[in-house]
Amino acid sequence: MDNKRKICIMGMGYIGLPTAALLANRGYQVHGVDVNQHAIDTINRGEIHIVEPKLDEFVRLAVQSGSLMANIDPAESDIFMIAVPTPFHVNKFNKTTNSPVPNIDFIIDATKKIAPYVKPDNLILLESTSPVGTTNIMADVLKKEGVDINNIFIAHSPERVLPGHIMRELIENDRVVGGINNKSTKKAAEFYRTFVEGEVLETTAKTAEMAKLTENSFRDVNIAFANELSILCDDMDIDVRELIYLTNKHPRVNVLNPGCGVGGHCISVDPWFIVDSANGKAKMIERARRTNDYKAEWVIEKIKNQAFQFERDNGMAPTISCMGLAFKPNIDDLRESPALYISEKLSNSLNVKVVEPNIESHHFLQLVPYLEGLKADICVYLVAHNQFDIANVKEIDLDFCGLK
Ligand SMILES: NC(=O)c1ccc[n+]([C@@H]2O[C@H](COP(=O)([O-])OP(=O)(O)OC[C@H]3O[C@@H](n4cnc5c(N)ncnc54)[C@H](O)[C@@H]3O)[C@@H](O)[C@H]2O)c1
Repeated sequence: MDNKRKICIMGMGYIGLPTAALLANRGYQVHGVDVNQHAIDTINRGEIHIVEPKLDEFVRLAVQSGSLMANIDPAESDIFMIAVPTPFHVNKFNKTTNSPVPNIDFIIDATKKIAPYVKPDNLILLESTSPVGTTNIMADVLKKEGVDINNIFIAHSPERVLPGHIMRELIENDRVVGGINNKSTKKAAEFYRTFVEGEVLETTAKTAEMAKLTENSFRDVNIAFANELSILCDDMDIDVRELIYLTNKHPRVNVLNPGCGVGGHCISVDPWFIVDSANGKAKMIERARRTNDYKAEWVIEKIKNQAFQFERDNGMAPTISCMGLAFKPNIDDLRESPALYISEKLSNSLNVKVVEPNIESHHFLQLVPYLEGLKADICVYLVAHNQFDIANVKEIDLDFCGLK
């Protein structure tokens, strides 16, 4: 065990824990750190506190063999990895663009915590999705905490795994690795090549940070184009899905599918990191973000209009079923979900029930089984879950997710 390379991973969430479990099964001695005592206790029993296929087996084997242990405090290591959240500040907005401001406090806190344990020759890695410049801020924090940063290596390698496939993608995906200097880039790339089978691509820390933000902004901008088309086509009485099918027959056109907005904790969040630091110059990225957010408001208006029409025709307010709450089909993740936002907003003024086959309960919304949901006067399809059958869609129903 003493000959094993030691790695201390800050943050035992969806990124940190799978990485810890993988490395522990690949010959590293892993010390996992979290501020959440429940997570630590669960991991130390060889169990998991998050849902991810195959992760339970990796964690069980790693803990049983003694190569993975979790703790509230960091420990001396050869490598330190930071995989903590990077959310927005609550109620803080950029003065130029009135856009959300990223919060890197978790990264700074984790950096301060590892500082007393960092020794010469250590490699410090940032994996959290971060605003451009964060890796250098981390280096400054370490310096202020008394670490001689000339004798260590500091680099960023953004994570691009897909939840549900994390254990495979951690190994197979190509990785971008960028250090605060050339020697840090080389050292970090050498580490990733010990377990990554995809290509390990070397660059600078700033380019690596921007690469991750660009990937998610690319998706957001392209979905915004589809969402904008869906609004235009509705005015023109054109079936947007037929239109997209036809235009995509062009050999160099690939329009994405519209939906009821954009959700999840990456694509609907990370483009704001660019907007925040661009002094009003990230016009298209900002416009796309706002277009995708506006799509949810537009959906709400369409549903309210349909309800109003029903009441006028029938002399009574309709019952409405919102079909789907998750941010994309066939998952249980509600983070930043436009379907959740729409359902909550509608239930303030309308008689709303919700069908979400992937979760058991919700603290605010009334969940009903699919067959009961179908009895509503109007069904609004927000997420194209596999369970929803196109054969059950009535003329009066509204489809915002391409079920029809
Ligand atoms: N989940 C994904 O699919 C995914 C994909 C790519 C990138 N990312 C990025 O990776 C980063 C981590 O995301 P995640 O999904 O693992 O988050 P998560 O919320 O699942 O896990 C983060 C963990 O860090 C812990 N933590 C917070 N502050 C800490 C501190 N100071 N010291 C130690 N632990 C601390 C939290 O308790 C939590 O358990 C984010 O920047 C995210 O944007 C996530």
